[in-house]
Amino acid sequence: SSLFLPQMERTFIAIKPDGVQRGLVIDRPNKFIASCSLLRKILKPSGYNNQISEIISRFERKGFKLVGIKIMVPSKGFTQKHYHDLKEKPFFNGLCNFLSSGPVVAMVWEGEGVIRYGRKLIGATDPQKSEPGTIRGDLAVVVGRNIIHGSDGPESAKDEISMWFKPEELVSYTNNADKWIY
Ligand code: TYD
Repeated sequence: SSLFLPQMERTFIAIKPDGVQRGLVIDRPNKFIASCSLLRKILKPSGYNNQISEIISRFERKGFKLVGIKIMVPSKGFTQKHYHDLKEKPFFNGLCNFLSSGPVVAMVWEGEGVIRYGRKLIGATDPQKSEPGTIRGDLAVVVGRNIIHGSDGPESAKDEISMWFKPEELVSYTNNADKWIY
């Protein structure tokens, strides 16, 4: 009966501009490299990783449910609001410039323990310290370009979901695999 259904919690997950459009990653852009188009070309990786699908796939395989997704370029002001807790940090301005610099894939994932376990799938903030097997451990190198965001607790999950999504943009459904097997 519904009495035994686990409380389904939701978390906000975002693939940052570097995860959406991975090209040359420079932690502190070097003026010399930036000014030299030949060097930029040499340093540019020859291929792009399918990081959007890779990241979505890890959450799906775990058994979490995608209930909201969209792609957008957030304004600087919006990213400042998103990261308001960090406004005193020295990296705050650079962080907000970066997050508003390109497309972000914003998502809401649902499932038992998804807030805490989502952070586990993502890995430590600094990719140098993230374990192999985590998203940042496997796919990122430097802290300023760590490709993904995930809410760090129930409070921020609630705030971030309501900031990034309107209620009608989130769906509610029951998975029923049999229905799709003929
Ligand atoms: P934080 O909320 O501490 O980490 P997390 O994303 O794991 O919840 O920091 C937010 C982002 O700020 C982080 O993903 C990357 C960036 N950042 C830096 O650029 N330099 C730093 O020293 C730290 C701690 C974070």
